[in-house]
Amino acid sequence: MITQFTYGTPVETFAVVQDIPVSGHEALRRFARKKGSPQIFSCMLGEDDVIYGLGETMRGINKRGFRYISFNYDDPNHRDDMPSMYGAHNFFVVDGEETFGAFFDTPAKVTFDMDSKGSGVLSVICASADLRLYIVEGDSAYGVVREFLGAIGQSFLPPLWAFGYGQSRWGYRTERDITRVASRYQALGIPLDYICMDIDYMDRYIDFTVNKRRFPDMAGYAARLREQGLHLVPIVDAGVKIEPGNPVYDEGAEKGYFCLNHEGTYYRAEVWPGMTHFPDFLREEVRHWFGDQYRFYTDRGLEGFWNDMNEPAIFSSEYRAKGTKPDLEHGDPDQPERHVADFKDFFHRLDDGREKSNYEVHNLFGAMMTRASGEGLDRLLDRRYLLFSRASYIGAHRYGGIWTGDNASTWEMLRQNVYHMPSLHMCGFLFSGADTGGFGGNCTRELLLRWLAVSVFTPLMRNHTALFTKNQECYRFRGPEDFKAVITLRYRLLPYLYSEFMKAALERDMLIRPLAFDFPEDGKARSIEDQLLVGESIMIAPVLEKGAKGRIVYLPERMTEVRYDGKSFTCMEVGAGERTVMVPLSQVVFYIRQGRLVPVGRAAANTAELDLMDVELLGTGTSYRQYVDDGYTKECSMDRCIMRTKEAQPR
Ligand code: GLC
Repeated sequence: MITQFTYGTPVETFAVVQDIPVSGHEALRRFARKKGSPQIFSCMLGEDDVIYGLGETMRGINKRGFRYISFNYDDPNHRDDMPSMYGAHNFFVVDGEETFGAFFDTPAKVTFDMDSKGSGVLSVICASADLRLYIVEGDSAYGVVREFLGAIGQSFLPPLWAFGYGQSRWGYRTERDITRVASRYQALGIPLDYICMDIDYMDRYIDFTVNKRRFPDMAGYAARLREQGLHLVPIVDAGVKIEPGNPVYDEGAEKGYFCLNHEGTYYRAEVWPGMTHFPDFLREEVRHWFGDQYRFYTDRGLEGFWNDMNEPAIFSSEYRAKGTKPDLEHGDPDQPERHVADFKDFFHRLDDGREKSNYEVHNLFGAMMTRASGEGLDRLLDRRYLLFSRASYIGAHRYGGIWTGDNASTWEMLRQNVYHMPSLHMCGFLFSGADTGGFGGNCTRELLLRWLAVSVFTPLMRNHTALFTKNQECYRFRGPEDFKAVITLRYRLLPYLYSEFMKAALERDMLIRPLAFDFPEDGKARSIEDQLLVGESIMIAPVLEKGAKGRIVYLPERMTEVRYDGKSFTCMEVGAGERTVMVPLSQVVFYIRQGRLVPVGRAAANTAELDLMDVELLGTGTSYRQYVDDGYTKECSMDRCIMRTKEAQPR
């Protein structure tokens, strides 16, 4: 059950799509509000209460003990104590003496103090007094999350090819660079479905352009790659370069589609292409216009997109350049002052007639860019497309996926990737993943192999790295057959992973969950954060430590231990409890739950070659409901599930 409380005149965020009746304020029992500080909500926690949720925030799955701030922010230096990342996912669940969820639906900054002082107090401080609060009741943490997922609507559904392996790097400049990547993967027989084109494909980093010298015939090139089963995925940045004569700029400027500055003219901010204007994505008309621009790409046969810099990221601004920054006194102690202050310098004209500074509606900017592109692509394409974004707010999960931004090639970031996945799935962002191998810094062979072994199980599986870092494509490392083994496992598991993703989306469920959600009575399982459940049958226990030859795994029940060595699966029944498992770098070990099945297919060079129908069933279950379709139809429903059955196996 969900109850809605409305305070002031909230800005429409489009996060909740279910009709939820508004209750009187006196009915708010879960939180106390201090007299005189109506924006502060607090409650007492039980000693052993766990807090789940908050999507893309740092640290572990249990959010208790720290402070987090929802204020979308581009900081590539990911640290445990950074309060904000690129997304604002204001939903959490308190699980313990009392179990309930809360969603603070406001596009302004929100501070979540999850008992940071250890005094048992949870408090939520909203920067704006205009907000909606949804209290979600349920009989378990998992039940609360499912109730919430029902209210925020169905996840974006990418095509099957988007679940393939993607290679990316900031630094691919020309058609030649990309062809080389494709041929190296093909020559080694390492599966690949798409290659991302970072900002260098554009003409001077201007959206909706192609550098003609580097890509003389983008449409022809994309078509040639498609014949080889490969897709190109261009990056699209939020800012529109100030460039009279450019049709997108001219139209946006003429029609008033950009955000305004203090003087009432268009705000100017420096990003990759130099000075840009920010489209006022919060307005429907502007979203429609921006979404239509993707025709530039779809006309060239492109069906995958990567939206970036949409917190928005600002390198400098007209005010910073002039040295006349207003509002400096309002700096935030947790974040570099200039960034927060920048967002007070430009203004949105909302569809409800109000004008708001970006600071007041900040967390919606990227989400509304995603919505603009998603709705545009829905109009332009008669099939499903790949779309993922950096900044987000709950609700954007209906239009696209996300990646977790500029992480680094460190073991801590690999571990963070594991923690992020269930938290993101609690907030609806099923199609998500990290830069596999790490964005900043240099990746090692060992780290990349271990990271790939995690990414095999995340919906978005993309290797991406920054300009000037060491090359990170699999073929750059010794023993490419080991990389082939791990990535091949992804393709062999796709009949299962794709099916589980689609079922989770269609049934408003999570795909990746903490052990605690399925084994709530098991005290040990409740405290484990480095093992995850993936769909109804699989548990993973990845190796996350440098130099480790294996790890200790906790099994809440009897399971089938499955080892994949690049060629075949070896299954072994193992009892409940702790066990030590050895995992060579060339192998992946995962677990199939008791009485469950996993359909595995044959190896394939890409998803175009994959046959979702040709599967064998691993595990001790007797039946499995497999979602199957052509991989791109827009008509997706549970009616597409087929029943796979297997004779019960003697134990
Ligand atoms: C941002 C993105 C990163 C990209 C870079 C250049 O830092 O997060 O993925 O490679 O910009 O476009």
